[in-house]
Amino acid sequence: MHAPRELFTATAMAPWWRAAVGANLLGPDGGLGVTIFEEMTTLAVQTGAINLGQGFPDEDGPAEIKAAVQAAVASGANQYAPGKGLLELREAVSAHQQRFYGLSPDPQSEVIITTGATEGIAASLLAFAGPGDEVLTFEPFYDSYGAVIGLTGATHVTVPLLAPEFFPDMAALEAAFSDRTKVVLLNNPHNPTGAVFPREVLQRVVDLARKHDCLIITDEVYEHLTFGVSHIPVASLPGAADRTVSISSAGKTFSFTGWKIGWLSGPEELVSAIRTVKQFLTYSSGTPFQAAIATGLALPDDFYHGIWTTLRHKRDILSEGLRAAGFDVYTPQGTYFVNVDTAPLGIHDSVDLARRLPSLVGVAAIPLPVFCHPQGAERTRSLLRFAFCKKIEVLEEAAARLATLSGKL
Ligand SMILES: Cc1ncc(COP(=O)(O)O)c(C=O)c1O
Repeated sequence: MHAPRELFTATAMAPWWRAAVGANLLGPDGGLGVTIFEEMTTLAVQTGAINLGQGFPDEDGPAEIKAAVQAAVASGANQYAPGKGLLELREAVSAHQQRFYGLSPDPQSEVIITTGATEGIAASLLAFAGPGDEVLTFEPFYDSYGAVIGLTGATHVTVPLLAPEFFPDMAALEAAFSDRTKVVLLNNPHNPTGAVFPREVLQRVVDLARKHDCLIITDEVYEHLTFGVSHIPVASLPGAADRTVSISSAGKTFSFTGWKIGWLSGPEELVSAIRTVKQFLTYSSGTPFQAAIATGLALPDDFYHGIWTTLRHKRDILSEGLRAAGFDVYTPQGTYFVNVDTAPLGIHDSVDLARRLPSLVGVAAIPLPVFCHPQGAERTRSLLRFAFCKKIEVLEEAAARLATLSGKL
């Protein structure tokens, strides 16, 4: 017996989720498609282009963390970790928050280790949001947010971030809250815009969350990637601690995106609700990697200083190249992404340009509209995102290639 053909196509997907992942995932024939990240990476491979699309470093993180994972494997840390994660990593997460932010979550009851920040985000949303609720995010938004909000059955409400700083309009922020708002899902520093929100914006979110009695889930995976501005954890603001779940991960800080070690912290009752969901997603993962990241979190201040000083230099090399190529460049204060407006080159459709860029000049990038719902996509139609977490010589070569663009359009 053959299963009906539609079981192998998008029509077999739950309709609310299909709607949520929308055009970014579904192929033009209605079959299961690939994300734009995969499409651009494939194009980059086919054309030999420099891949400044997907955000992953092209160099490994610290040697002592790699040695620690090898030692953990050799010593037999190879079976399931506890559902909450290894105690040594939960303790290291708590110590890291104390050292950098003066926060002191209890490693026994207020911290859990997740399979990357991605699982922390999914488990948190699934624990708290459901049909009839609204989940509020800024827009553009990291792509997993829309998909997971769709999985919960809640409605995704967005507040636009406005160029050049990519901060929200405060009146629009206030208007986006309603009595149905269950969760505000923040991301700071912000992917894809590179914005680092000032204290006033974050405090306003906290005050509105209190007014509407909703939770704050904050994705701070780029916490150590800020340039000349300090990262302010939302949980440290007045009125936030009792309703905030903070999420981070090792991928960006330590340049080990493939290890997928993340964590979250917050009040015990919220963390235990998330843990209940998390145990049915992965239960636990990456035992030896968890042990190694505990070593990483304890690295001295020099290491953390080195992360942002090195990246700031890389940001400046690529930004200069993009400016020389004729784009308007929005200099980011955080993350490893820089956005440009392609309009000065007479281009108004960044999705189309992203598809042509690899063969035109040998560089791949990601168009901003893919991080938006249709209205937001219209607003960001000429914007393109480049990743600068690459070797200096790679960025210099990319800049040289981009300099030839205007002559080829
Ligand atoms: C804003 C944001 N959150 C979460 C993630 C995923 O983190 P992880 O790899 O730890 O799951 C990313 C990765 O690009 C990201 O940009």
